[in-house]
Amino acid sequence: MKNNWDIDTALIHHSKRGATHSGAVVEPIIPAVAYAFPDTDTAAAVVSGEKEGVYYGRYGNPTLFSLEEKIASLEGGEAALGVSSGMAAISIALLAYLKQGDHVVVTKDVYGGTYKFLTNIAVRYGIEYNFVDCTNPEFIHNHIKENTRAIYIETPSNPHLTILDIKKISEISKLYGIPLIIDNTFMSPYLQNPLELGANIVVHSATKYLNGHGDSIAGFIVGNSDDITFMRNSLMGDLGQVLSAWDAFLILRGLKTLGVRMERHCKNALEIATFLENHPQVEKVYYPGLPSHPQHELAKEQMKGMGGIVSFELKDGKEAGKRFIDSLKLIIISFSLGDPETLVQHPASMTHFSIPMEEREKFGITDGLIRLSLGLENAKDLINDLEQALMVRPKVDIELKV
Ligand SMILES: Cc1ncc(COP(=O)(O)O)c(C=O)c1O
Repeated sequence: MKNNWDIDTALIHHSKRGATHSGAVVEPIIPAVAYAFPDTDTAAAVVSGEKEGVYYGRYGNPTLFSLEEKIASLEGGEAALGVSSGMAAISIALLAYLKQGDHVVVTKDVYGGTYKFLTNIAVRYGIEYNFVDCTNPEFIHNHIKENTRAIYIETPSNPHLTILDIKKISEISKLYGIPLIIDNTFMSPYLQNPLELGANIVVHSATKYLNGHGDSIAGFIVGNSDDITFMRNSLMGDLGQVLSAWDAFLILRGLKTLGVRMERHCKNALEIATFLENHPQVEKVYYPGLPSHPQHELAKEQMKGMGGIVSFELKDGKEAGKRFIDSLKLIIISFSLGDPETLVQHPASMTHFSIPMEEREKFGITDGLIRLSLGLENAKDLINDLEQALMVRPKVDIELKV
């Protein structure tokens, strides 16, 4: 459905396929596995792709199709594929373009699960990779080989909030005629549209902001119709990574509030980043919304908001970091991000544990690094919690001499 709505309106009204049939205001959940046909010719036409339709739940379901239409439109892509996790989206997108003997250039600042997929799984099937500092697009040129078949980046990156120049990197990908794949999880389509900036494929962990309530694991791939059809029929369906109608419904519901949530996430993140930057115990803050961030100007050009994630290091390193995290009373120690609750985690021992220590250090993931996913609470309450945890001093054993 083509329209001229602003994204705030499209998030609520775009694509109500099932609801149009029933008259319901809310999209229905259709969890059926099998679908009936009037005759064998129609069944054959749907299976062969000649006729549009659904024949078996492992290749999608009507609730998911509504959601896929909506996500494609929000990202400005021809088509989208909803899958069972962000990692399913990332692995399907990479496997769609890479086969045995192929090579991929990957940003060095990449989510731990993506690193693990490439170094543990893809390598077993003869796929080569190089982790490259993509902040200088020249470095990408230097790593392109004859067998390079894709460039894969994440911006802002997890957990360092490094910003990469999507336009410049897409020019390189076009020069070599290879697709540029971007993980847009930290931004959501509300804050950044990589396809408009020249990327070919966008992947999301919808587990985060798209659903936004911490109660569903899901992923999306957005791109051109032919590639998405190939991914659906020859990878997602056959590997069995479909997204259930129940989860699709939760994400359809969550998406309606994406705009207001993202605005609050960004507002809280900027307040907290500013507070941390001015705190005497804090060594360094990583947040693209701060003028001190090395790619602040680029962030302002390609992002509509700076996102809800803030990473930082304390002056006394790992021990101070652990003490600080363990002293938080409101903020929850947990994996994931993009939830209503503010979450804190220690990347070196949690999300990025799968990256060996020496590699982690090369990627700048020090043992003292802390990542906050700012939720939707009142910023004052968050600052009070951070303040009290920063004041906690190490326990010293005092020997009482009587
Ligand atoms: C940037 C990014 N991409 C992908 C993923 C993987 O998503 P999922 O947990 O839904 O598989 C994560 C998970 O934290 C992430 O942070």
